[in-house]
Amino acid sequence: MSSKEYILVTGGAGYIGSHTVIELINNGYDVIIVDNLCNSNYDSVARVEYIVKRPVKFYDVDLRDTSKLSEVFSSHKIKGVIHFAALKAVGESTKIPLEYYDNNVTGTISLLTVMKNHGVKTIVFSSSATVYGDATRFENMIPIPEHCPNDPTNPYGKTKYMIENIIKDIHGSDNSWRAAILRYFNPIGAHPSGLIGEDPLGIPNNLLPFLAQVAIGKREKLFVFGNDYNSHDGTPIRDYIHVVDLAKGHIAALNYLRNLNEKDGLYREWNLGTGKGSTVFDVYNAFCKAVGKKLPFEVAGRRDGDVLDLTANPTRANSELKWKAELSIDEACKDLWKWTTENPSGFRIENYQWKLFN
Ligand code: NAD
Ligand code: WQD
Repeated sequence: MSSKEYILVTGGAGYIGSHTVIELINNGYDVIIVDNLCNSNYDSVARVEYIVKRPVKFYDVDLRDTSKLSEVFSSHKIKGVIHFAALKAVGESTKIPLEYYDNNVTGTISLLTVMKNHGVKTIVFSSSATVYGDATRFENMIPIPEHCPNDPTNPYGKTKYMIENIIKDIHGSDNSWRAAILRYFNPIGAHPSGLIGEDPLGIPNNLLPFLAQVAIGKREKLFVFGNDYNSHDGTPIRDYIHVVDLAKGHIAALNYLRNLNEKDGLYREWNLGTGKGSTVFDVYNAFCKAVGKKLPFEVAGRRDGDVLDLTANPTRANSELKWKAELSIDEACKDLWKWTTENPSGFRIENYQWKLFN
């Protein structure tokens, strides 16, 4: 085994993971990606290598395959894990909840078991604002602070809630564990290089990927899910955060954990959001500006499970992690449009020009 120490990134071929791998490498970390490519494509790893101008170790392993995962830990010195790998579609999770609990919860138990067996006790976990459920059920909880009571309303959100609690219990049993729970709000945009971005399979669930497909002519129009909410234009409010800002939040959290006093452990949650709420029409207008034309839309009925407002209070992350989202929605829309126009078929093309190192 070489003496090099690695950060192991589960789900590192995916949307947020691939952007985070770039920031890790730019900050001097050596990285190993573990991903079973169930919702991504190896091309994203090859493009990350092209962007950072060096090879990145990659293992095609399902986290639930505990023995294969254990082999990865046995053959490298791993000093911490950033855990992105999960299934993430809210609607799908209500239809196939068992698959979601198995993939997300069983996968995480397998990962934590292997980490424990190898004495790796530092983890940054991808959680979600979805754990809060409808925070407007309380007075004074918008923007949402970390102490807002949790009440996830769908199986996907419940897997995040369960995993947070599993990690909390492990820390409770051995307080030398260091765990950063990062609750993301709405990640958007793409890498400014135009080489990597979000590449949804099938019909996109999320607002901006759907709008991007309208803009390149893959879909006829955007359906706006309700304009009768109590906001300035009647559409729901979200906290949209550029994926590069979000990726940088992981470096801040990892550095925070690594800089704790030698014997200290930690379990702590941080919201990663901008603190600024935008409506569907605000985002629609920003994206139309990036594209340079008005895109067709139709107001449809409300979508089941949607809530009026999910805006973060990010002050804990701002002050403790010394991290702040800096990029605007306009920049995210510009980067998304560049990614979309330069890769209209996403990663699913045989594009070997990125294969510098393979
Ligand atoms: P993504 O689907 O692009 O990336 C997830 C990656 O994990 C994929 O590459 C997939 O192949 C891999 N994966 C899934 N199950 C696996 C398994 N059992 N073993 C190995 N690899 C597996 O999703 P993303 O948007 O990058 O999200 C990353 C994380 O952030 C997820 O945990 C997600 O729940 C969380 N999150 C995402 C959002 C969002 O809106 N994108 C918001 C909040 C939280
Ligand atoms: C944003 C707004 C829709 C699509 C989801 C998950 C959440 C987290 C982030 C993982 C809403 C409206 C959307 C469309 C629309 N993911 N919309 N037409 O629902 O806020 O959050 O992603 O953890 O858990 O639930 O994001 O992008 O789907 O919707 O009008 O075609 O856009 O009603 O107001 P959401 P979204």
